[in-house]
Amino acid sequence: MYRALYRQYRPEVFEEVLGQDHIVRILQNQIATGSTSHAYLFCGTRGTGKTTTARLLAKGLNCLSEGQRPCGQCPNCQAIKEGSFLDVIEIDAASNRGVDDVRELRESVKYPPAAGRMKVYIIDEVHMLTTEAFNALLKTLEEPPEYVTFILATTEVHKLPATVLSRCMRLDFKRVPEAVLIKGMSDICAALGINVTEDALRIIAANADGSVRDGLSILDQCIAGRDEQVTADDVLEFLGASGAEDFLELTDMVRKKRTEEAIIFLSRLLEDGKDVRQFMRDWTGHYRNLLLVKYMRNPETVLGMSAENIERLRRQAAVLEPEDINRGIMELSSMSNEARWSTQPRILLELAIVRLCMGAGQIRELTEPRFVDTPASPPDAVSAAPVPARTVPAAPAPAAPAPAVPAPTETEQGAPIPAEPVQAAPAPDVLAQTPDTPGSFDCEDIWNKVFEDGEEEKGSIYIIRNSAQLTSIEEKNFTVTVNNEFIGNLAEKNRKLLEHLVEKHTGKFRTMRIVLAKSAREEKPAEEIAAAASDLLGIKVEVK
Ligand SMILES: Nc1ncnc2c1ncn2[C@@H]1O[C@H](COP(=O)(O)OP(=O)(O)OP(=O)(O)O)[C@@H](O)[C@H]1O
Ligand SMILES: [Mg+2]
Ligand SMILES: [Zn+2]
Repeated sequence: MYRALYRQYRPEVFEEVLGQDHIVRILQNQIATGSTSHAYLFCGTRGTGKTTTARLLAKGLNCLSEGQRPCGQCPNCQAIKEGSFLDVIEIDAASNRGVDDVRELRESVKYPPAAGRMKVYIIDEVHMLTTEAFNALLKTLEEPPEYVTFILATTEVHKLPATVLSRCMRLDFKRVPEAVLIKGMSDICAALGINVTEDALRIIAANADGSVRDGLSILDQCIAGRDEQVTADDVLEFLGASGAEDFLELTDMVRKKRTEEAIIFLSRLLEDGKDVRQFMRDWTGHYRNLLLVKYMRNPETVLGMSAENIERLRRQAAVLEPEDINRGIMELSSMSNEARWSTQPRILLELAIVRLCMGAGQIRELTEPRFVDTPASPPDAVSAAPVPARTVPAAPAPAAPAPAVPAPTETEQGAPIPAEPVQAAPAPDVLAQTPDTPGSFDCEDIWNKVFEDGEEEKGSIYIIRNSAQLTSIEEKNFTVTVNNEFIGNLAEKNRKLLEHLVEKHTGKFRTMRIVLAKSAREEKPAEEIAAAASDLLGIKVEVK
């Protein structure tokens, strides 16, 4: 029977683990000195060796060798490798999430090992446990019997309660550097008698994005059905077939404004298990490639693609307006940026598709600035306002090289632009500052709390988070400054919820005022957009 390469090949001893030397050193040392911890937490990107290392540690704890442990040879090592060793229990928390499963585990912990020295429980995807199950687990983690070791593994450590974190020794698995991956794959190929060129391995490593499993899986599919050498072209052909083609098609649907078709197509792609955030990045990359083939005479030098794929890109770029490509890049990179904070990145991606399909003109109609508040106070009132809230609506996210969504095109089309609504104008309802008055609120803190709660109530609300700031809290109102009209509209749609949540965290009902940030209303000159794109892409984009 055929077995995928990454199943066929799994490190049997610590020396074979790639790119996690910092972890291997600690574990080897603890095994040698008998000072292992009773609970470990292995976290990090998928496919970097967490489960593999957990099994190695389980072997190390039960290995019969006198020398280096695990030896990979003794009966215990062999039995653990085959999954037939009674004292190593692997639990997939994704399918055993409940408190009953954990109770069962607690029962079994009471019995000492049947065959080995140490009973090892490997709980994979531990972030999937329910709160109740976590609580039940805590009791066991607190005081496990001498003969028990727990190894918890997860890709999403931020979802674990602090109580669990504090009881485990945490080890962070890193993405494996490309050079290490190339060397590792090259050794595996040599051992298995597979002939793959160095260039081919380099491209595979670049596409594995630090995951050994992904690297092996690409390698595997390039090898399939070939008995001679695997070359760079083979790899490019394979990668092209699984990625570029889809993006060409999706971009085409968006160009033709076929929203429904595009969203259905997307859901089919995601069903295949593609990661949404990665998909956004890759699609942005596709638009970048379109930009390059449109403006460069010899894009081959920077694209690292097969000639066939470049030709396909050329054909698509030819039917797209520079403006479409520009909008695609801006929209997708800003969505990628927001998606980093979101628990529901897929909604963002769908939203991006809808917006791209609509094109600039219709977005405007959707986002008529009904909400913009225009007090008649002079602009310099800002500095006179006695509210110590943040006045600069800076994005709270750590800056990623993504420019804001391009400025709305209202002015171009002659829509009226309201006067700068000065936030926190010295309105009569601003109180003098004594403790407990509105001035003592920490707007940023409250805003964060609002979204922590809000996300539970309504998944889509966090779209507002990065593009709007709570800029002041007054006696009867609070002011939300939005970066663009689209976000303003979303805030308006969520008015009840936002008002309710602000009330919850300030102890009093206040009405929301939505104002548009100054920067959103100044039309960005084309040169500025081009400069932002140049910055983002690392190439020169010129305005024609
Ligand atoms: N650091 C590594 N060194 C060598 N091979 C590795 C490494 N990481 C992963 N692999 C390969 O990928 C396969 C899967 O790895 P493993 O199950 O340990 O990943 P993981 O980190 O547990 O992933 P996930 O988060 O998806 O559970 C292994 O069988 C092995 O072939
Ligand atoms: Mg795993
Ligand atoms: Zn052994």
